[in-house]
Amino acid sequence: MYKTIIDCDPGHDDIMALLTILAHEECFNVLGICTVAGNNTLEKVTRNVLQVEEYLGLNIPVYKGAVKPLVLDGVPQPAGHGESGMDGPILPQPEMKAQDLSAIDFYKEVLRKEDDLTIIALAPLTNLAILLNEYPEARSKIRQIVLMGGALNGGNINKYAEFNIWHDPHAAKIVFDSGIDIVMAPLEVCYAGGILIKETERFRNEKRVSKLVDDLFSFYLRYAIDRGWDKTAIFDLIPVLYLLNKDLFISKKGKVDIILEGEDTQGQTVFVEGEGNHTVLIDTDRKACMKIFFDAIDTLDLRYQ
Ligand code: RIB
Ligand code: CA
Repeated sequence: MYKTIIDCDPGHDDIMALLTILAHEECFNVLGICTVAGNNTLEKVTRNVLQVEEYLGLNIPVYKGAVKPLVLDGVPQPAGHGESGMDGPILPQPEMKAQDLSAIDFYKEVLRKEDDLTIIALAPLTNLAILLNEYPEARSKIRQIVLMGGALNGGNINKYAEFNIWHDPHAAKIVFDSGIDIVMAPLEVCYAGGILIKETERFRNEKRVSKLVDDLFSFYLRYAIDRGWDKTAIFDLIPVLYLLNKDLFISKKGKVDIILEGEDTQGQTVFVEGEGNHTVLIDTDRKACMKIFFDAIDTLDLRYQ
């Protein structure tokens, strides 16, 4: 059982990751959801997660984190996720509000009591970098950070970088240099474990959770369809699938270094295999990944009717 905090910027794929976590109550004890400015503003991504909670009748506490990267300004990316940060579904007004406690203070509160926390990080690493700066003891208390971010060959935001790392490279450097055990799911393994566009048709029904996923795909797939692809990555799902079944993944151990600057290189993750506390996921079994995802949504369709 993973005692976990989800750090995210929903985001279509963040929510698909969250749904898969929720389906596996036997594996994940979710202590809270922290939000951070990333794909869109902190206000918008926080509202998105609260709306999903409202739609499903959940009450997982939500804690707001950083409004901007450590050093840079931070630019919302409506191309991937739309103006709301999660275009597609029409969801109810959330009654639940974010907690008064900030994400950073929530991490501190949890880590004062727990020393086996697994953090699932699906967004820029700003919250975690602030935590490590303000509360260095966190280094020895976090069991593992499993994150979506980075790229080995080419980027999705500049020539070499992946969005989450590019958005706040200074934060990523602090986190990767912290000595904490990190598992990184870069772009390549997310593409390898992606969903075929035709497979998304299975969600086109009136079941509550399938409908949410279908509505998410109605916008999220546009990026792939516009480029003539037959498949899309559900990026943030991959670290969750890794925690659910590590045997599905080929990985390498070593050290990841973060490049801070350069038009082509800001946020580049340079991986050197060998000694080090970083595990990089290299490849996966796509069909087995999708089976876990599909089964998770089926489970939730039965639970939330
Ligand atoms: O590059 C992929 C990442 O950026 C994912 O976390 C996704 O949610 C996007 O915002
Ligand atoms: Ca995300």
